[in-house]
Amino acid sequence: MSKNLKLGIFGFGVVGQGLYHVLEETKGIKAEILKICVKDPSKKRSLPDRYFTFDRGDILDNPDVDVVMELIDDPEAAYEIVTAALKNGKAVVTANKKMVADHMTELFELQQKHKVPLLYEGACCASIPIIRNLEEYYDNDLLNAVEGIFNGSTNYILTKVFSENKTFNEALTQAQKLGYAETDPRLDVEGYDAKYKLCIILTHAFGLFVNPDDVFNYGIQNISDFDIKIAREKGYKIKLLAKSRKINDEKVVAMVMPQFVSDKSELFKVENEFNGVIVEGAFSEHQFFIGKGAGGYPTGSAVLSDISALTYNYKYEYKKTRQVSGVVLSEDFEITIYLRFLHPDSIDKNDFNLILEEYRALDNHYIIGKISFSKMIRSSWISNPDCSVILLENGD
Ligand code: HSE
Repeated sequence: MSKNLKLGIFGFGVVGQGLYHVLEETKGIKAEILKICVKDPSKKRSLPDRYFTFDRGDILDNPDVDVVMELIDDPEAAYEIVTAALKNGKAVVTANKKMVADHMTELFELQQKHKVPLLYEGACCASIPIIRNLEEYYDNDLLNAVEGIFNGSTNYILTKVFSENKTFNEALTQAQKLGYAETDPRLDVEGYDAKYKLCIILTHAFGLFVNPDDVFNYGIQNISDFDIKIAREKGYKIKLLAKSRKINDEKVVAMVMPQFVSDKSELFKVENEFNGVIVEGAFSEHQFFIGKGAGGYPTGSAVLSDISALTYNYKYEYKKTRQVSGVVLSEDFEITIYLRFLHPDSIDKNDFNLILEEYRALDNHYIIGKISFSKMIRSSWISNPDCSVILLENGD
């Protein structure tokens, strides 16, 4: 039997308002908003005052509230709200990827201890139902890889820079105006946002609990006009990819990096704020999901789907954590990269296992070659803003 849920919402920004409108327009859902807790009493709101409170206790300690919706920006405050709600026996829905990724182990344990669900489909790739699919559809398939475009803002920026010749800053400002970017857009641009999503996916795909600090992320901030010219000449686009892949029974590799993507890949046509996720399973083989990855409505739709799931008592079972044991993250593998640099003495060619192509000019130089991943992430040039590193597809 499905039940009528009473919701207490924290936050009324892009996602909170998106959810309100999505709820208004969805007739079938058995849920109503009791209270919305916001921070700033002076801000003008689009709903009557009776909805709003500035006191967390009006939701967290309210026995009428069944479900706490955590839709605020600040991950520390979100963590306090979510843990307090779970300890008070309330189901929780959140879209805060950093908070979930940073505290996955504790949040998993709190759900077991207090026997309440925490759902967070909106935290990963917005409208693409990837977590529920990994949990339910691929629960028994042996997954080999989950990878793709997990960040809408950077995909929007790269699309506008690549296809419409906009400058990086114009495109970023537009992504902010459209409500795609994080409050601190460095989280998008430097690959952190995609990494948090990847860490959540690592738990549901491979049963791994990882500290986001242990997963390498390299953003799009160093990509130059020269890099874009080279990509065009070679018939590629550049996309920021989050990648996870099992390399044997014990080892999974994971990273966020820009990659040259050819038109052979489904990701080539994933543009603007869309995300694309490729899932490779031993039996299901190659599957591709595409959908809007940022914005109030796409994220609101995922949050709504979590509310709907709670009306029939759905919870994540974290099935892969029980099926797989002894799997660890590994840095021990080889990749093919393009490394562009301004000063030849800023890099050491001996870092490469094999050089496939070398280009020298007056200012920009590049090397395409094979390198050990662990050597690359510890190199002196990886943090040099005058260098740009881009992955090549399947070692092309
Ligand atoms: N800033 C995020 C993005 C929002 O651009 O993908 C959705 O998680």
